[in-house]
Amino acid sequence: MKRMIALAAAMELATAAYAAQKLGEVPGERAPEIVYAKICGYCHGRNVGPIILGRQLPVETIKDIARHGRNGMPAFRPTEVTPDEMDALAQWISASKANEKEHGK
Ligand code: HEC
Repeated sequence: MKRMIALAAAMELATAAYAAQKLGEVPGERAPEIVYAKICGYCHGRNVGPIILGRQLPVETIKDIARHGRNGMPAFRPTEVTPDEMDALAQWISASKANEKEHGK
């Protein structure tokens, strides 16, 4: 019986991991739009931070601010947004078009 429970738990974990991977939500492997939606979009485009999409902000500027923070914006550590994710994110933001659903200050 104990074995069955352990097996069921293991299967549930594997299923959750598979689902997360399918959604691109495994930390370190998340697509830039997922990182933006889950982290940056919490403030940017929601009246908390300035609009950053569609402004062709330089990639290095985006990375620098995201890593070090600025005034009301927190810094994001490599454990939160990995270096690969940060590179892809900054490039995606820099090249993005404006999203008309966003509201900014
Ligand atoms: C908790 C809210 C919050 C989150 C989350 C957040 N920011 Fe910000 N961000 C701000 C605020 C507020 C400012 C304005 C800072 C200032 O006063 O200069 C800002 C400024 C910026 C700027 C400068 C914009 C400009 O007009 O010069 C960039 C670039 C930026 N954020 C990128 C990001 C990225 C990339 C992420 C996600 C990894 C992120 N931010 C997550 C609140 C946030």
